[in-house]
Amino acid sequence: MVKKKKFDLIPNVRIEEMVAEGKCLVRHQNMVVFVKDVAPGDIVDLQVTKKRKSYLEAKAVKFHEYSDVRVQPFCEHFGVCGGCKWQHIGYETQLHYKQKQVKDNLERIGKIPLPVIDPILPSEQVSYYRNKLEFTFSNNRWLTYEQIRSEQEFNRNALGFHIPQRFDKIIDVQHCYLQPSPSNEIRLAVANYARDKDLVFFDLVKMQGFLRNLIIRTANTGELMVIMQFFQDQPEDIKGLLDFLLAEFPQITSLHYVINSKGNETFHDLDVICVHGEPYIHESMEGLRFRVGPKSFYQTNSAQAYELYKLTRDFAGLTGKEIVYDLYTGAGTIANFVARQSAKVVGVEYVPSAIEDAKINSQINNITNTTFYAGDMKDVLNGALFAEHGRPDVIITDPPRAGMHPDVIKMLLDVHAPKIVYVSCNPATQARDLEMLSEKYEVTRIQPVDMFPQTHHVENIVQLIAK
Ligand SMILES: C[S@@+](CC[C@H](N)C(=O)[O-])C[C@H]1O[C@@H](n2cnc3c(N)ncnc32)[C@H](O)[C@@H]1O
Repeated sequence: MVKKKKFDLIPNVRIEEMVAEGKCLVRHQNMVVFVKDVAPGDIVDLQVTKKRKSYLEAKAVKFHEYSDVRVQPFCEHFGVCGGCKWQHIGYETQLHYKQKQVKDNLERIGKIPLPVIDPILPSEQVSYYRNKLEFTFSNNRWLTYEQIRSEQEFNRNALGFHIPQRFDKIIDVQHCYLQPSPSNEIRLAVANYARDKDLVFFDLVKMQGFLRNLIIRTANTGELMVIMQFFQDQPEDIKGLLDFLLAEFPQITSLHYVINSKGNETFHDLDVICVHGEPYIHESMEGLRFRVGPKSFYQTNSAQAYELYKLTRDFAGLTGKEIVYDLYTGAGTIANFVARQSAKVVGVEYVPSAIEDAKINSQINNITNTTFYAGDMKDVLNGALFAEHGRPDVIITDPPRAGMHPDVIKMLLDVHAPKIVYVSCNPATQARDLEMLSEKYEVTRIQPVDMFPQTHHVENIVQLIAK
């Protein structure tokens, strides 16, 4: 018989603070202990679950005292769902730790001289702020201990979110507080219809089934996009479900489906078939309209995206004379947003269809001083591009969570624009990139922005001036 490893119990400790990835930290006998699902100020007994040379991981097995930064979570799925892990912490405290997360990352990883960091900009909406959610179908619904103990029979089909770290287990979401109506209504109607018609929910382990994934995008113009992903082509069932959706939700302005038999749910390389309405929706901002296709990135908190872009434009300090490069431009949103205050803007982005949207976003807003290129940044951003469009006065860069490729940073150092505005959704990779840029740049302003209330995620804008 294999003997179970016995780990230590650490009794009666006060959780000290929140750190990266939403974990909390406590120091114990010169060791750092990371703990999930607690709050700073909780007094708990900890069971060590993992031992490493430099740190421990533990879970709280008994609460002696609950912290006064705690609030009552408003979602019934809190604690199980991976979506809003900070719902048990008051919003002011969330903001405090996001600010700290930016400071800690920039200081510890960046190790460069920094100005005073501006106070984080809170989000006006702290629930129903997202314009896009993606739900997974599964025939292996997650049941809580209470549900299992009740010995009741539960339908194991689910439509909802993954349990953290469990690719095969899905919560059957009843109400999600992240996206406004009719997101919940659509998800529930689709799940009920599928159960009624005995459509086969996906088996994530065996990789078989029919219903795979549902994406809902609710634009601030009132336009509504729904994308259904099916694992296999069953034309009659597909038609039945899509007809049902349109009959129940005539406000859908853009309805699509995808046949996705790949090993994952991404569909950037697959055909997206539009069966109703226009093949895109529009977001609006400061009198501009942005076309967003099913494959295009758009900032998920539309209202806060406007605040983020205003700050980005302010950091860029545009007067109308500048040549601006907007790197990782997505559907050209920042490029078009700053175009009226620039001489010209060059946008670069990986996803070709997003670049098509970016060009159309210029056209529909009568913007004529933008040029867009599709391709991998490290290949497209080169001497020839700068020779063609001119040396940048300002570079705005907004990379994905992984940050910028070292070749891109090298190119930024070579071209040595007078100003860079670095927008990031991951202060750790931003700090790493800033350290590399510090060879030729000084950080002059820092502004964290909260785009994602109830989560540990934080956006951060940094202004860099050439030395
Ligand atoms: C954080 S989003 C920013 C989008 C845009 N700036 C906005 O505000 O809507 C990052 C974008 O980088 C793109 N991207 C990711 N890797 C890339 C690469 N290697 N080269 C070019 N673009 C890339 C993604 O497709 C995505 O549109």
